[in-house]
Amino acid sequence: MTGVAKQPEHDQQTHISKLSLTNFRNYATLSIGLDPGAVVFSGDNGAGKTNLLEAISLLTPGRGLRRAPYADVAREGGDGGFAIHARLDGPDGPVEIGTGVAGGDAAGESGRRVRINGAAARSAEDMLEWLRVVWLTPAMDALFTGPAADRRRFLDRQVLAIDPGHGQRALDYEKAMRGRNRLLAEGSRDGAWFDAIETQMAETGVAIAAARAELVRLLAAMIDRLPSAGPFPQADIGLSGALESEVGTSAAVDVEERFRQALAEGRDRDRAAGRTLDGPHRSDLVVRHRPKAMPAELCSTGEQKALLVGMVLSHARLTGEMSGMTPILLLDEIAAHLDAGRRAALFSILEELNCQAFMTGTDAALFSSLKGRAQFLTVDHGTVGPTI
Ligand SMILES: Nc1ncnc2c1ncn2[C@@H]1O[C@H](COP(=O)(O)OP(=O)(O)OP(=O)(O)O)[C@@H](O)[C@H]1O
Ligand SMILES: [Mg+2]
Repeated sequence: MTGVAKQPEHDQQTHISKLSLTNFRNYATLSIGLDPGAVVFSGDNGAGKTNLLEAISLLTPGRGLRRAPYADVAREGGDGGFAIHARLDGPDGPVEIGTGVAGGDAAGESGRRVRINGAAARSAEDMLEWLRVVWLTPAMDALFTGPAADRRRFLDRQVLAIDPGHGQRALDYEKAMRGRNRLLAEGSRDGAWFDAIETQMAETGVAIAAARAELVRLLAAMIDRLPSAGPFPQADIGLSGALESEVGTSAAVDVEERFRQALAEGRDRDRAAGRTLDGPHRSDLVVRHRPKAMPAELCSTGEQKALLVGMVLSHARLTGEMSGMTPILLLDEIAAHLDAGRRAALFSILEELNCQAFMTGTDAALFSSLKGRAQFLTVDHGTVGPTI
């Protein structure tokens, strides 16, 4: 490197400068200082690396990267509760975010609490005002070959990062659909009830489809800006789902009306099936590997991973441009599947994105090209210290 090498600028970036955990998974208590930029957690299997990423993933609405019940997250042998505390530094100055579940509320079914700068937040969504967190874990390696529900969840998380209202929309739709499914199960013929619920489903369902279609449009445009022969192949992305395809060509009110009618006409069919068969809860994200002109699910494991990494990086860039907040990236075991060339490419894209990126691996050597440009921490049975 020459003396004129550009130093990454971190002043516009929000990053976690301090993370403290209490009774979280295998951490009784932990408090660590974190650098902006790349942070590498290395350590043996079971040391607690993914647990650290999971803690950070709970700084965004939802159940975190494992989608675990809170009772599983609370440390065995603790008081049944857990707490995560993060100090953020960024353009808006320091922000303190705390979240957790009190002991005695071990089931945590009343939800976790969130405090921002010491005051109780109205909901977990309030955290989105301060930071965005995006992750890629080994469990997502089967994203293209696994069930559509996983791809929908992935898609909806991507929408949420650029459109914070999406979480509530999804909850409202789910709630209405559960109400309809209950009526179906009871064999109800209460037309007025069905009408009311289906009107709600039509409104929220079309809003969901429109937000997804918008994300896909924006992300596809971002992917098109990538070099066509880059280390991470371009993905052609699309949506399969009646509503998603209609929202692009018809006015929302018309799509809503058609969906409402379809639900009303489908009552007998749905009663026989025992559930609602039409709607955005059945849609799918369709991905193709552009250079190979191949559906993603037919690509090799490594090709699928590279495709997914490319999508996540493009989405991170999109989120930064749309929200002004470059997301914090959690890349669990990221180095394992990538060859040396792709690893180096990933590291330089992360620097160019100017985001805080947490990466884990059992072998710190896979990250050796980041020496001097990243913070290296060793995780060992619920303790974290500098890597020597
Ligand atoms: N509620 C809990 N209380 C105490 N320990 C827990 C709890 N939940 C999980 N653990 C333990 O935390 C340990 C660390 O898990 P983690 O998944 O973070 O490991 P890791 O470092 O990512 O390992 P690997 O390299 O295998 O992915 C595991 O041994 C697990 O049994
Ligand atoms: Mg792990």
